[in-house]
Amino acid sequence: MMILITTAPGLEGALIEELESLGYEGEPSIGRVLLNVGYEEIPKINYFSAIAHRAFIVLKEFEIPTDTKERAFEIIKKELLEIPREERFDPSLPFAVRGERYPKEYPHPFTSVDLGIPGGSAIIERIMRKKGKRIPVNLKKPAYEVYLEVIKERVRVMINTTGESLHKRGYRIRGHPASLSTTIARFMVRLPNIDDVCDPMCGSGTILLEARLEKQGVPIGRIRSKTYGRLRRNLLPFRDVRLEDPGNERKDQRLTFGDRSSKHIDSAIANSINLSRLAEAPKGYRVYDLAKYRMRDFTQVDLSCDTIVTNPPYGLRLGDPKSVEPVYKKLFEVDRNELVLITPRDDLISKYAPEPRAVYKVMHGDLPVKIYYFK
Ligand SMILES: C[S@@+](CC[C@H](N)C(=O)[O-])C[C@H]1O[C@@H](n2cnc3c(N)ncnc32)[C@H](O)[C@@H]1O
Repeated sequence: MMILITTAPGLEGALIEELESLGYEGEPSIGRVLLNVGYEEIPKINYFSAIAHRAFIVLKEFEIPTDTKERAFEIIKKELLEIPREERFDPSLPFAVRGERYPKEYPHPFTSVDLGIPGGSAIIERIMRKKGKRIPVNLKKPAYEVYLEVIKERVRVMINTTGESLHKRGYRIRGHPASLSTTIARFMVRLPNIDDVCDPMCGSGTILLEARLEKQGVPIGRIRSKTYGRLRRNLLPFRDVRLEDPGNERKDQRLTFGDRSSKHIDSAIANSINLSRLAEAPKGYRVYDLAKYRMRDFTQVDLSCDTIVTNPPYGLRLGDPKSVEPVYKKLFEVDRNELVLITPRDDLISKYAPEPRAVYKVMHGDLPVKIYYFK
C-alpha cells in the first residue's frame, strides 16, 4: 500500500533517516516521502515519528481534464465511486473531504475548496449504495478525512491517517509570536550532543523541550494521545493494532533556558511542566527537575553549556534589521563546543561566523531559512 508522509520542505532527508530507523525505506520528493508498507504499519509511523507531519494512504491516482469545472468534477466523482475502500469506514462516524490544488498559478477552473463537492457527493453515494446508510459530514471535527490533491492534471485521492499534523505536539499551552516548528526544532537537536544544552533565546522553549523528548525517547504518540486523541481509532482495522511504547528512559540532561523577556521565560516554564505531565516523566527526570530558567539579555551575560541550539531573532518583520546584529556577534564569541542555529540572515553569518560543518535549507512556513551546524 502506498503511503505519503509529509514534513517541512527541507526535512525529507531527516524523515527518510528516521523512517529507516523504524524499519522502512522511503522515496523522497518535495516536502514528502513515499513509502510502500502494509496497512498495519501506519499506526507505528504516526506514533513514533518526530519529523513527520501527516501520513496519508494513497487510494488512487488519475488524470482529469482541466478545461471546465463540470468535466473535471465528473471524472473525479466517477473515479471516487470506483474506490473499494468503504469497509474501513464506520458509516455512523462523520467524514470530511478536503482539497488542495497546485501549483497556485495553474489555471484550474475550480478552487481548492470546490474539490469538496465532487469528493463529498461520491463518498456519500458510495456508502449509501454499499451500506444503505448516509454517512454524516462534519467539516470541523471529522472522524475520517479524505484528501484530494490536484497537481496540474493529476489527482491523488488519499485518506489522512493522522488527523491534526504531528508537529502539533499538544505541550505548547503558552505560545510565542515567532515560535519554531517542533519538527524543525527536533531536526536541529539531532545534530549535536545534547547532554548539556542551552538555548539563550528560548522563547516558549520549543528547542529544549524537543531536546528533552529526544533524550528521553518519548514517542510523540504518547503525548498527543492526551490532547488530540488518535485518528487511528476510527479507521477500523487500526483499532486492533497494538504498539509497544518503551516507556521513559531515565536519562540525565542539563537544560538551560534563557530569554530576555520574563513573559517568554514564564511560557517556557509552563510548557515544560505540561510536557513532562503529558510524557508521564518520572520524578527527577521531568524537564523542570533538570532545567535552569534565566531571564537574561544574552549580549550582556553568558549562559555556559557544551552545546547551544537556538533560533535567534531575525529582525525582518519588526524593527530594524541591524538591531539583532549584537546577538549574532555574541553567538560566535561565547565558549561552547557545538552550536546549531536557524536563521535567514546569511549577511550576519558571513560577517561573524567561521566555516560551518554543515548547512541545511528548510522552509519555516513560507520563509526559506538555513540551519547552520558549527563545531
Ligand atoms: C525567534 S524567537 C525564539 C522562539 C522560540 N524558538 C520558540 O519556539 O518559541 C527569539 C527570542 O529571542 C529573544 N531575544 C531577542 N534578543 C535577545 C537577547 N539579546 N537576549 C536574550 N533573548 C533575546 C526574544 O525575546 C525571543 O523570545
